[in-house]
Amino acid sequence: MSARSARPADPAAPAAPLLSIRELEVAYAGRARARGRTVIHGVDLDLAAGETLALVGESGSGKTTIGNAVLGLVPVAGGRIELAGRDITRLRGRGRRALAREVQAVFQNPYGSLNPWITVGTTLAEPLRAAGMPREQVRGRLERLLDRVHLPTDALTRYPAEFSGGQRQRIAIARALALEPRLIVCDEPTSALDVVTQAAVLELLQELQAEFGVAYLFITHDLAAVREFADRVAVLEAGRIVETGPSRTVCDAPEHPYTRRLVAAAPVPDPVLQRQRRAARLAAAAGPTPGALSPATPDSAA
Ligand SMILES: Nc1ncnc2c1ncn2[C@@H]1O[C@H](COP(=O)(O)OP(=O)(O)O)[C@@H](O)[C@H]1O
Ligand SMILES: [Mg+2]
Repeated sequence: MSARSARPADPAAPAAPLLSIRELEVAYAGRARARGRTVIHGVDLDLAAGETLALVGESGSGKTTIGNAVLGLVPVAGGRIELAGRDITRLRGRGRRALAREVQAVFQNPYGSLNPWITVGTTLAEPLRAAGMPREQVRGRLERLLDRVHLPTDALTRYPAEFSGGQRQRIAIARALALEPRLIVCDEPTSALDVVTQAAVLELLQELQAEFGVAYLFITHDLAAVREFADRVAVLEAGRIVETGPSRTVCDAPEHPYTRRLVAAAPVPDPVLQRQRRAARLAAAAGPTPGALSPATPDSAA
């Protein structure tokens, strides 16, 4: 772990990570001469298969930039990003497209990321067709995907505008899941949703993780969600990791002054919201019968 960390070594950090980021530097082209402005400074992160690592920090601290570096959406100025031991730092073109089978993303605003002019079925089929799935298998796969995110099959013929924000985020999650990736970068996936819907979407993400073993890089500023949802957390201050550790330990007993300030600034627990969240969690837990979440069928394991 970084020498700058308040916790010198995170005992929960994985020994053989799925995602490993070392000394990451990202600079945006800007006025500060030709060198640009460095916004990520020597970041180290490790994420195990099937694990949820939360990345928290104030707005502008660089969370999205790190997620985008993993996704190949911003140029990396220095350091190294590995997926299962393979260097993906500067993967472009065909290699980057092939990586879509392993790394996917869910963003804050699903309405922005879903094409309003095409049906949900076409949107969800696109990654499957691009990956070469035979046409006759696509329909069955789409129905199972919708079932897994608890949307009705008739959603396939409808358009994004016909759904609520929470349902659109379920569609975006289904699309991310279509190729059964090993890692999903979730950038503020619930920040645009009301609290009850937030809880239900987090519940769904957890359920899918248990079923598929997918790892999440979970970018958020919601510390309450981090404590409930993430295994570990890394705290980012102005492009530097200042603290990492198990999420409960860090949220309940923050060591770095910046983390303490973040925890202190988190919304005071509101009994009404807490009741709503609990009710939503219970409803989600009681919702689908276990039989509806059947194990992956042979062709979905491809
Ligand atoms: N495309 C961009 N061009 C220039 N600067 C950017 C760009 N995107 C983000 N930044 C800057 O990089 C820093 C980190 O931003 P970002 O990663 O979006 O933070 P966060 O997601 O934590 O709010 C901020 O200072 C922001 O202004
Ligand atoms: Mg952001």
